[in-house]
Amino acid sequence: MAKIPPGVGPKYPQAVVLFGATGDLARRKLLPGLFHLSSAGVIPGCRIIGVSLDDLDADGFRTLARGALDQFATRKNHGAAWDAFAETLDYVPLAAGASGLKAAVERAEQELGANCRRLHYLSVPPNAALSAVRLLDEAGLVERSQIIMEKPFGTDLASAVRLNTELHEVFSEDQIFRIDHFLGKEPAQNILAFRFANGLFEPIWNRNFIDHVQIDVPETLGLGSRAGFYEATGAFRDMVVTHLFQILAFMAMEPPTALEPAPISEEKNKVFRSMLPIEPKDVIRGQYTGYRAEEGVDPESDTETFIALKCSIDNWRWAGVPFFLRTGKRLAEGQRIISIAFREPPKSMFPVGSGVGAQGPDHLTFDLADASKMSLSFYGKRPGPGMRLDKLSLQFAMHDTGLIGDVLEAYERLILDAMRGDHTLFTTAEGIERLWEVSIPLLEAPPPVRLYPPGSWGPKSIHQLVAPHAWRLPFEREWRDPNRAGS
Ligand code: BG6
Repeated sequence: MAKIPPGVGPKYPQAVVLFGATGDLARRKLLPGLFHLSSAGVIPGCRIIGVSLDDLDADGFRTLARGALDQFATRKNHGAAWDAFAETLDYVPLAAGASGLKAAVERAEQELGANCRRLHYLSVPPNAALSAVRLLDEAGLVERSQIIMEKPFGTDLASAVRLNTELHEVFSEDQIFRIDHFLGKEPAQNILAFRFANGLFEPIWNRNFIDHVQIDVPETLGLGSRAGFYEATGAFRDMVVTHLFQILAFMAMEPPTALEPAPISEEKNKVFRSMLPIEPKDVIRGQYTGYRAEEGVDPESDTETFIALKCSIDNWRWAGVPFFLRTGKRLAEGQRIISIAFREPPKSMFPVGSGVGAQGPDHLTFDLADASKMSLSFYGKRPGPGMRLDKLSLQFAMHDTGLIGDVLEAYERLILDAMRGDHTLFTTAEGIERLWEVSIPLLEAPPPVRLYPPGSWGPKSIHQLVAPHAWRLPFEREWRDPNRAGS
């Protein structure tokens, strides 16, 4: 179990109202995450009220939660910890309406005391989010509360503006936490530490030294049981507008005036304001062969399961530096990397055939997996006579520090932050609306989807998109594994 330092918990006891409590995200991440936070003693005063369409009672919900922990919790530590957690669970079916929900929250609050706060987690599809907001309003549960919203935050500019307007009729912006779980990943936050805590890299973090950037998140996963959601969403809305653009903002933003929510949001939003509109000619949409035959998918579906695009940030730091983004389902490998390619030296005195430049430019690579890794690759001399150059690398892996067990899973981190009222790792209405605005040319005239075989790296045309550069993945050489001899 992670060693969580004292004092990081919320100031007040929390009544958590979990909408979508029986759904996929709740079972995979939210219930295991809440269990971990609670059994680690970080949220001692916390009661959880599950809400969903399913007709369950509190015991039925406990059985479901226990099943979810058995299947998905990464840290197995049940026994007494489970008994204590089970005690804190309650359930209200949606059919019980506003009065049923209010009564359940009041029961929890009697246990927690008068100064407790409410955390409403809306783990529901977009079309159900506003009904949940209205239900909370009707039940009088808006005061003393924070609300966590799940993406997608609209499907285009008009719907995002509408969603935000309706949300703001009930909740104020400072009560709203729009979750993007990529920002809760430890390595994403490490980008900030790496850039702004060291004098070494920040001076070269600009167009004078960086040639191009790739943010590449291929997945081997297919749709699972999410065809309904995915058909209406597609890879651009599911992954790019949310996760990849958010990571891009951390990578590209100016130093904030303080490590606090408002200055960080301001710098991220400046990146979004400087982004040029995404033009269809710079986008490749793909669909894996066989997608249209899947259950719940339209046999003539035009939904993209893959997307690669080039985008530009037209400001002093990044003008002329292309950012290539790629993500998709059923691809050859599951990876999450940011790869920064440095400019080549202006002149080479190394003899032809020495190998200089033969393995691409020197790179800095961040692996955004929970067990984060970082690598700086460069050319060095191969031992022996003459002057032959090889690509070498300096690598760091969180595994080597012995601290890997302390990593909080992204949702755990973000739930804890929301309970503490800390917006640093959440996105704002302004940022989201700007991202939909830059997406207008693409959404209005999406290029046709091209088929790609499952297990590949996407449609063939991905190479033209990055030419004269090359995609960094698949890696020519694997990450070094300290447990493997000779690596
Ligand atoms: C989710 C997307 O937000 O992120 C999924 O809806 C995607 O389609 C997932 O698979 C990837 O997240 P992670 O943390 O597993 O990389």
